[in-house]
Amino acid sequence: MKKKLWFLVGAVAALWSVTPLQAQEKEQLSAKIVVGPYLQAVTEDGFTVVWTTDMDAVAWVEVAPNDNSHFFAEDRPKYYQSEAGKRPIGKLHAVRVEGLEKGTTYRYRVMQQSVISPEGDKRLLFGIPSGNDPFRQKPYTVTTLDRDKESMDFAVINDIHGKDSIFRALMKDVVADKLDMVFFNGDMLSSMDSEEQLYDGYLRSAAELFGAYIPFFNLRGNHESRGLFSYRHLDYFPTTSGETYYLIRQGPAAILMLDCGEDKPDNDISYFGLMLSDSYREKEAEWLKKTVQSEEFQSAPVKIAVLHMPPGPTGWHGIREINRLFVPILNEAGIDLMLSGHIHRYSFSEGADRGCNFPVLTNGASEKHYFHVTREGITGKRIDAAGKVLQEYDFRRK
Ligand SMILES: [Fe+2]
Repeated sequence: MKKKLWFLVGAVAALWSVTPLQAQEKEQLSAKIVVGPYLQAVTEDGFTVVWTTDMDAVAWVEVAPNDNSHFFAEDRPKYYQSEAGKRPIGKLHAVRVEGLEKGTTYRYRVMQQSVISPEGDKRLLFGIPSGNDPFRQKPYTVTTLDRDKESMDFAVINDIHGKDSIFRALMKDVVADKLDMVFFNGDMLSSMDSEEQLYDGYLRSAAELFGAYIPFFNLRGNHESRGLFSYRHLDYFPTTSGETYYLIRQGPAAILMLDCGEDKPDNDISYFGLMLSDSYREKEAEWLKKTVQSEEFQSAPVKIAVLHMPPGPTGWHGIREINRLFVPILNEAGIDLMLSGHIHRYSFSEGADRGCNFPVLTNGASEKHYFHVTREGITGKRIDAAGKVLQEYDFRRK
């Protein structure tokens, strides 16, 4: 394939001045988007855009204010995909945009230029730049976070286990519902075996339905630690901390996104000797201790923890470790609500039976929860895949 392209490029270069490129040739020289773009790690001053292309390419993002100016009114700043001072060539693109204003909506477009490297040849040839065209297509938009925002709205789903049709039914209205963000709270796949499985399981749909406009935060469940592709989790779902646990601050809410680790002991035969969940949870607990003391966390009137495996009385090793390492810290941190999954059904506990001094709500495998957070507290709804509201909550302080 590469050789064929090389000959094509050579022929095209030689005839450039006399022969216009035919549509098929243009097609072969231009990288096309396979999945994405989707927003990740949105903060008060920046965001990351992720997408993949069908050919090796270099990539960048162009950003414009969300005003009445045409996207082509002036040269828009370009943010290049960057790794240790170089522009990487590849099919997976993650571009970080920084230096923005908080609580502000921006337009952006993603761009790529194919790179063709003939076998056995050190030369590189660049193909035709391509990307989303803000002339014919409405530009994508992103809104940076803002801790001074009056309220925030989010959805949480979990335990999809690769059932894309359920994912689509639950997530089809995210843009129309004007959510600030969406949380995927673990076990979105049964194991991470390949990029194709990740796309088919839910990620292509997430990007198509809302991911270019509304960020999602994809927290690992115990199943995301399984499979040979699980090593790539942070490549596809980059975080601000560089770890799979982190803090989000939006409006009145501080949200602790916690990685539960695996459910069985690390040396269980099903993990092939590859699991180091115990030491990772220990490290995470150290981070958690410091984070709940931070001004960023403590200044939030409402505090939420998101954790795939709920604390509780079960005898499974992973949950025992969560009880031992995380719960004592969270019990001192003034948590208003914990959101969990894992058990594939709705449950609600005031907390005492789970050893917690905060309520713990688990979302079912084919349902979602919507939450609205103000300074007074949290209200929410439990909704099924048909859109029927099954239950309403009011966790505001009386
Ligand atoms: Fe689980």
